[in-house]
Amino acid sequence: MAFPSLQSDRLVYRQFQAEDLELVFYGLSHPEVIRYYGVSYDSLEATKEQLAWFKNLEETKTGLWWAICRKEDGVFVGAGGFNDWSHEHQKAEVGFWLLPEHWGKGYLQEGMPTICQYAFERMNLHRIEGFVVDDNQNCRKAIEKVGYKYEGTMRDCEVKDGKFISVAIYALIR
Ligand SMILES: CC(C)(COP(=O)(O)OP(=O)(O)OC[C@H]1O[C@@H](n2cnc3c(N)ncnc32)[C@H](O)[C@@H]1OP(=O)(O)O)[C@@H](O)C(=O)NCCC(=O)NCCS
Repeated sequence: MAFPSLQSDRLVYRQFQAEDLELVFYGLSHPEVIRYYGVSYDSLEATKEQLAWFKNLEETKTGLWWAICRKEDGVFVGAGGFNDWSHEHQKAEVGFWLLPEHWGKGYLQEGMPTICQYAFERMNLHRIEGFVVDDNQNCRKAIEKVGYKYEGTMRDCEVKDGKFISVAIYALIR
């Protein structure tokens, strides 16, 4: 099946390419991006794992992630998508990150509804879950604006940088 490229007012959503390695490394090693994010890399070589993960999600129908770019000039602004796709329970986990130079432009406000609409209509999802480190106010504020409902917090449920962290559960129901 051809990769489902999407578009919205200011953005296009395309398949990741090998040429995106440096951009993904820049994002997933940037201190502001990885502060509350579950994945980070300390080398270009290690970042190849992330591109392989995107590819494997597509090939195994366990998810779908897009490279998000500006429509006007193709500049890469970030990534968003779904993993842990349960066909049986019609649900998946959502993820989203933007390069800091593209924060504060409403790209999540535009991008999240776009990929979620695809997920509900073409991936036959009924529920989309977001697991957000409870201190990540930027993310919480942004996803609440696009309809995610707070369902509760898993207290001290993970260890990050040697400290226990709590994770808030958000969900969007079709
Ligand atoms: C989470 C994250 C994507 C939020 O990015 P963001 O740019 O703050 O969020 P939005 O796209 O919703 O932008 C909203 C802001 O853009 C402003 N904005 C500018 N132009 C806008 C437009 N056309 N439409 C809407 N908002 C606009 C809004 O005023 C708002 O600013 P405010 O927050 O000061 O009120 C970003 O902080 C990030 O990448 N964090 C690191 C990764 C991460 O933690 N991901 C976890 C999962 S979300």
